Amino acid sequence: MSRPAAPRGTRDLFGDEVRLFRRIEERAADCFRLYGYEELRTPVFENVDLFRRAVGDTTDIVEKEMYVFEDRGGRPLALRPEGTAGVVRAYLEHAWDQSAPVKKLFYSGPMFRAERPQAGRYREFRQTGGEFFGNASPEADAETLLLMRDILAAAGLPKGAATFGVNSLGCAECRPAFRDALRAYLEPKKAGLCENCQRRLVVNPLRVLDCKGDGPALADAPVTTDHLCADCRAHHGRVLELLRAAGLPFAPAPRLVRGLDYYTRTVFEVTAPGLGAQDALGAGGRYDGLVKALGGPDTPAVGFAFGVDRVARALEAQNVPVSGPRRVFIAQTGAGTADAAFRLADELRGEGLWEAAPLAVEVGAPGKSLKSQFRAADGWGAAWVLLVGEDELKKQTVILKDLRAGAQREVPLARAAAAVLETIAAEKPS
Ligand code: HAM
Repeated sequence: MSRPAAPRGTRDLFGDEVRLFRRIEERAADCFRLYGYEELRTPVFENVDLFRRAVGDTTDIVEKEMYVFEDRGGRPLALRPEGTAGVVRAYLEHAWDQSAPVKKLFYSGPMFRAERPQAGRYREFRQTGGEFFGNASPEADAETLLLMRDILAAAGLPKGAATFGVNSLGCAECRPAFRDALRAYLEPKKAGLCENCQRRLVVNPLRVLDCKGDGPALADAPVTTDHLCADCRAHHGRVLELLRAAGLPFAPAPRLVRGLDYYTRTVFEVTAPGLGAQDALGAGGRYDGLVKALGGPDTPAVGFAFGVDRVARALEAQNVPVSGPRRVFIAQTGAGTADAAFRLADELRGEGLWEAAPLAVEVGAPGKSLKSQFRAADGWGAAWVLLVGEDELKKQTVILKDLRAGAQREVPLARAAAAVLETIAAEKPS
C-alpha cells in the first residue's frame, strides 16, 4: 500500500521550520502586547455568511477559495479564510463596542484558502494579525505600520529586507467617483477581460484591478488617490507624514486595492523582494464600515495580518539562524546503570527548567547495545552524550562526550548535571 500524504496545499511543520514559526509568533505576540493588544482566539470555522458579508461576495476569496461545508444539522459553515471577520464578530458578540469601544486584539492561527498551491502559497497557512477598534485617526494607521515594522525586526528580519507599500482607497463619499472613473476606463476593454471580471465590472469594478489575470495588464488605470475627497486626502497626507517622520521605508502604492471588500482609506502591503511571486509578507488597512455592516454601531477600525509562512521564508532567504535546544543524550551500559541514568535524566531536566537556553534531555533504552544508543543519539541530533558505564559507576563518575568535537572527559556523578550546564554555557550559541 502507498504511504499516506498530506492533502494538496498543506504540509507538516517540523524541525527548524517549526522553531522558526514559533519564534515569529512569539516575537509578534511580544510586540502586540507592547502596543497594548490582547490575545483573542476565535474558532477555525464560522458561519459562512459572516465571510460573505465581511470579505465580500465578489472577492476571489469568497467566490472561489473558501472551504464551505455543512455540519450535521445542515448549517452552512466555512473554514476561516482570514481572521478579521471572526474578530469583528467576537467584538460584537461580547458587546465590547459598549464596554470597551477602543480595543486592540491580536490573533495567530491557521487560515484556509483553496488557492493554486505554489512556493509561498498554501491552502492551509498561518497568519498572525491584529485589529485596532475605535480610533479613526491617521495616527492609528501609522502606529499599525510601525507595529508591523517592529514585528519583522523582532523576528530577526534585517533592516531593509522588506518594503511597505501604502495607498488610500477613499471612503463611502469619494469611492463612487473613483468607481465611475474606473468603469469608464474599463468599459472599452471589456471584451478582453476574463469572464469573471466582465461580471465584476458591473457590480464591483475595483475587483478587476485585483484580478490575478487581468490586473497586471491595467497599468494605466485611474488611481484612487486622484479621486479622494478633502477629508480622505488630509487623512492620507497625515499618515504619510507620520511614516516619513518615523523613518519607515515605505513607497506610495497607487495600484494597491487589496483583495477584500471591507477596506476604506488607508491600505498597505509589506513585501520582501526576492521571494518570487508570493512576496507579500503581510497586509492590511482601515475598515471603518465593517463593524456597522455586521450589525454594530459606526466604529472605525484598522488592522493587518502577516502570513507566518511568508515571514518564515523571508527569514530563511536571509539565512537568519534559528537555534534549537541543546541536546544531551544519556547512554548506559552494564549492571546497575539504568537507575543512575534514569535519576541523572530527572536531575538534568529539573535543571533545564530554569535554564534560559532550552535544553533537551533524552535517555537510551535500557538493555540496548551501546552502539544502538549512540546511533539513536546521533539520529536525534545530540551534541553531548553522558555515558553511565558500569566501571565508572563504581568510581561514582560518568563520561561527558562532546560528539561534534569527538572529545570526552570523566566527571563526578554528583556534578554531572552541573558539568553539562557549565559546558553548554561556555559554548557560543549556535
Ligand atoms: P490578506 O492580504 O488576504 O489580508 O492576507 C494577509 C497575508 O496572509 C498575506 O500578505 C500573505 O502573507 C498571507 N497569505 C494570504 N494567503 C496566503 C496563502 N494562500 N498562503 C500563504 N500565505 C498567505 C487578510 O487576510 C486581512 N484579514 C488582513 C487584515 C487584517 N486587514 C485588516 N485586518
